[in-house]
Amino acid sequence: MSANYELRGNVAVITMDNPPVNGLGHATRLGIVNGLERAQADDAVKAIVISGAGKAFSGGADIKEFGSPKALAEPNLLSVILALEASSKPIVAAIHSVCMGGGLELALGCHYRVAAKGTQVALPEVKIGLIPGAGGTQRLPRVIGVENAMNMIVSGEPVKSEMLAMAPGQKLFDKLAEGDLMTEALAFAAEVADKRPLPLVRNLKVTHPSADAYVQFVKNMVGGMSKNFPAPLKCVEAVAGSLKLPFDAGMKLERELFTALMFTPESKALRHAFMAERATTKIPDVPADTPVREIKKVAVIGAGTMGGGIAMNFLNAGIPVVILEMKQEALDKGIGIIRKNYDAQVKKGKLKQDKLDARMAMLGTTLNYADLKDADLVIEAVFEDLGVKETVFKTLDEVMKPGAILASNTSTLDVNKIAAFTKRPQDVIGMHFFSPANVMKLLEVIRGEKTAKDVLATVMQIGKKIRKTTVVSGVCDGFIGNRMIEQYSRQAGFLLEEGATPAQVDKAMEKFGMAMGPFRMGDLAGNDVGWYIRKRRYLEKPNLRYSKTADLLCEMGRFGQKTGAGWYDYVPGKRDAIPSPVVVEMIEKHRKDLGITPRKISDDEIVHRLVYALVNEGAKIVEEGIAMRASDIDMVYLTGYGFPLHRGGPMNYADQVGLFNVVGAMKRFAANPHDDAEFWKPAPLLAKLAAEGRSFS
Ligand code: NAI
Repeated sequence: MSANYELRGNVAVITMDNPPVNGLGHATRLGIVNGLERAQADDAVKAIVISGAGKAFSGGADIKEFGSPKALAEPNLLSVILALEASSKPIVAAIHSVCMGGGLELALGCHYRVAAKGTQVALPEVKIGLIPGAGGTQRLPRVIGVENAMNMIVSGEPVKSEMLAMAPGQKLFDKLAEGDLMTEALAFAAEVADKRPLPLVRNLKVTHPSADAYVQFVKNMVGGMSKNFPAPLKCVEAVAGSLKLPFDAGMKLERELFTALMFTPESKALRHAFMAERATTKIPDVPADTPVREIKKVAVIGAGTMGGGIAMNFLNAGIPVVILEMKQEALDKGIGIIRKNYDAQVKKGKLKQDKLDARMAMLGTTLNYADLKDADLVIEAVFEDLGVKETVFKTLDEVMKPGAILASNTSTLDVNKIAAFTKRPQDVIGMHFFSPANVMKLLEVIRGEKTAKDVLATVMQIGKKIRKTTVVSGVCDGFIGNRMIEQYSRQAGFLLEEGATPAQVDKAMEKFGMAMGPFRMGDLAGNDVGWYIRKRRYLEKPNLRYSKTADLLCEMGRFGQKTGAGWYDYVPGKRDAIPSPVVVEMIEKHRKDLGITPRKISDDEIVHRLVYALVNEGAKIVEEGIAMRASDIDMVYLTGYGFPLHRGGPMNYADQVGLFNVVGAMKRFAANPHDDAEFWKPAPLLAKLAAEGRSFS
């Protein structure tokens, strides 16, 4: 039973006990109902207190039950709340720390609420594409007013209990505890033990001086802000129901809206991403209790684009950093950029000046490797050249203290080779940040053949500390993200040869939801980067077909925004991509040289060829064990490559389209003489799942 029962004088105390946040799983719900029955049956009991053990009152639904029949098994949360309301003895919720989602709905079903200060109160269902489904949309407006409730339910953001207690006329909290919560809740229960009738939130009225105008205003605003997501508008609709409908009709409306949202692809995608994010840190052969190494100081080698951003992550988390460069000028330039980034945050009001000063004070610089010897973790971000990395890692091996973790930010090189430059390959790992490293959420953690388990566990933990989404990747060319993007880019190139323009491809992908189409992305990242990689790649695989358009572009010196021209033209100082007649001409000439007659290509074909290229390569990556699970690939794409959240990542998108259909499309693509039939052979894992009618998840 995940709820305990005890008698404190003539008050029965039911304590939810389902770590870590007292999720309202089946056993907890059953525990509450059993406790209620016991208290009703005991004549000595005059009142009941419900609270939560440990770190929370309750965080709401138990995510372990997500999607399983247990989540709906009786007593479901609605039944539990009805049982609370039916109690003949007063029930006091003693609320502390975290009171969210179903936890708050449960508390709203009690007769009274006593809260500790600092409690985080929220109805966050909108974040997983839903609305509150156990009365939250009907009861919360009744206790804090429709406008406050609307804000909380549409945003899903937590509000501190003391803030809510200040809302004029609020009835959410009957008391804000000054001292020990349980002592005060028990005293409060004794006070109200004989009071009748018992107050129920459902009996309160919701009013607004100009209800219709207010609801219309919110609908307009929320509709404009949530274009790819249906849930926020449904939140508005449900809360608006509390103004117009009797309580039970409002509950019925809430249920209908909730149920309909459960089946939308957007909610499925958001729930998938929510679970996927949590799954990334689970490594089957590295248990959660693996001891970790202490990281009190970090060293960064190279103060370039990546080194500076990487350093900022640790400074932001309060971890001192020392940066090493070859020359003083490079060091000064790098530090200057860090300071400029922080200054910009101060100007925007996102950072206080004293915080900036504190962070800069934690940043040391050096030209001398001897100054790194007390660092616990060193991250190398020098030029992408194996020879340079060799020199750096050999030196690090000499100077770093025993047990220090040696990480490389390489984006393409073999981490096993880098590890072999040292006499301690077990301490070597890849930490692949994405640019700009102080902003992008993704951190690919590259597990080398010899990387020690505690090194991996430590890096995963430190990744969390610097607030990254950490995804483990095995060693292969490009790791998870870049290996897949190469196939995506190849398809984009073929599309140009067959008749599309860069602007058409980008527009189709952006309409699908990508933050940026492939060609705008190339212009931003620098087309020369891919050029350099292709030169190496096609030396190794001379028979691999690809479109030469990107090489021709680079031969024209059009590297992208940094050279003022790429796939598009740019006006100095601006980032707007202007379609370029010169580029279109270059593509047309290239097409002619290949003897291809251009055809009209649909947006659907563009989207499917690009996204399924990711999916097929992704399936190979899972099969080879480079990624631990398909959902890790989705997290890489959602947090590192601007893949639209409402699609849940490429693998989830394929699941929703149906793998059978995905494989069918691949067969059609393979028949195109201008494409790569070999590539479109479905990866064995994909073919197998499709044949068995299964999905990646
Ligand atoms: P960058 O050229 O901006 O910076 C490299 C810095 O390293 C320069 O300041 C240079 O002076 C310094 N450096 C070179 N050799 C050194 C040595 N022996 N000792 C000390 N400092 C040295 O390059 P960027 O873009 O920061 O890339 C660094 C690494 O990060 C590369 O391995 C790259 O593949 C990787 N990476 C780059 C990404 C990007 O978007 N730029 C994304 C992810 C990884």
